[in-house]
Amino acid sequence: MRHAPIDPKLFTGSRERLKKSLPPKSLAIVNANDVLPTNADGSLPLQPNSDLFYLTGIEQEESILLLAPDAHEPKHREILFLREPSARLKIWEGHKHSKDEATQISGIKQVKWLSEFPVIFRILMCEQEQVWLNSNEHTRAHVEVETRDARFARECQRQFPLHTYHRLARLLHPLRVVKSAAEIELLKESVLITEKGFRRVLKFVKPGITEYEAEAELAHEFLRRRARFAYNPIIASGKNACVLHYNQNDQVCKTGDLLLLDVGACYANYNADLTRTIPVSGRFTRRQKAVYNAVLRVMRASIAGATVGKLSRDWLKESQAMMNEELLALGLLKKSDIKKRNEDEPASRKYFMHGLGHPLGLDVHDVGFTTEPFAPSWVLTVEPGIYIPEEGFGVRLENDIVVTADGPIDLMENTPVEVDEIEDLMNR
Ligand code: GLY
Ligand code: MN
Ligand code: MN
Repeated sequence: MRHAPIDPKLFTGSRERLKKSLPPKSLAIVNANDVLPTNADGSLPLQPNSDLFYLTGIEQEESILLLAPDAHEPKHREILFLREPSARLKIWEGHKHSKDEATQISGIKQVKWLSEFPVIFRILMCEQEQVWLNSNEHTRAHVEVETRDARFARECQRQFPLHTYHRLARLLHPLRVVKSAAEIELLKESVLITEKGFRRVLKFVKPGITEYEAEAELAHEFLRRRARFAYNPIIASGKNACVLHYNQNDQVCKTGDLLLLDVGACYANYNADLTRTIPVSGRFTRRQKAVYNAVLRVMRASIAGATVGKLSRDWLKESQAMMNEELLALGLLKKSDIKKRNEDEPASRKYFMHGLGHPLGLDVHDVGFTTEPFAPSWVLTVEPGIYIPEEGFGVRLENDIVVTADGPIDLMENTPVEVDEIEDLMNR
């Protein structure tokens, strides 16, 4: 693994919290992700399973975690199963975790090879009553390919059809959405690396460069700091910024254009998610500045408005009401446009058509019940935007925050965002 070692207390703490939410006589199972195929004999790099990482810190393929807090044998209460290292694996794939290493990473004392899994699993299935299987329950997930967890769930229910099965995601999501202090430290590292990448881009961007060259600057900064892209970055000049999921990143940045950068570093599997919009030639036009400052005001007010107890739905509505006023002042909406629409279809949607933010963590659009009110230690993005294709530009700004009882903490307060600061850094 590329990141510095993590104190296993992070993972021990996650397991303790999960065990507390399991009813008596429960058995929970979490699988690694599959290594996904591409074409011919190719494969994608392994994307560690976020739930398995959250509970163990383990990023190795084929690993399985079993939790059975009431198991008769104390040694069966918490077991990690791993691929057994071999001379052949060492030659072809390199190092695989030893049992001691896995214990050091995860804090789990019982580490076994996968060959022992069937026997121990059968004992625990016969002994326990409630079985908790993992599944992807993100509301916006497109699950066309069966995951390892899904395959496991199917096979387990075939072999043991009389057990009572439950959805582990229902227990994991409310835990994962509340970040521990150690998780927030890792998120801060991702935010810092993202900021370094953005500062590098500020020095680099000028008319004539291509969007992919700006992407390469970010990649350089992220990779040398032990991170990777959290998601395919959006590097969108001019009207490309109005395509919300643009990621061709193949156009030339022209004089007078704005350049929207939606990019985050992922360090130790924790993701940052930043958006900044900068002038290609180093100076905003008067109109660009007016739109930019409108978005900035909405972002700042929405950060302040992310308070404990607020519903995501109400937070969005407040931002849409602010945006209506800003769009009115910019001459993009008329009073009659605002009156004509209702709260569910606000006039602002014509120029600000996406959500205001999302939970952030081991996943960029992190898991958590977004129907629940904001609670302390939720980490959220705040990302208003105004997109005006008829004027050839769009502006989005996005910061990452922590909700606390004393009000929100802006994790990106050091990442340049004021017009003057951005112009100054670009023209130095
Ligand atoms: N970059 C994805 C998002 O901002 O949600
Ligand atoms: Mn983003
Ligand atoms: Mn985002």
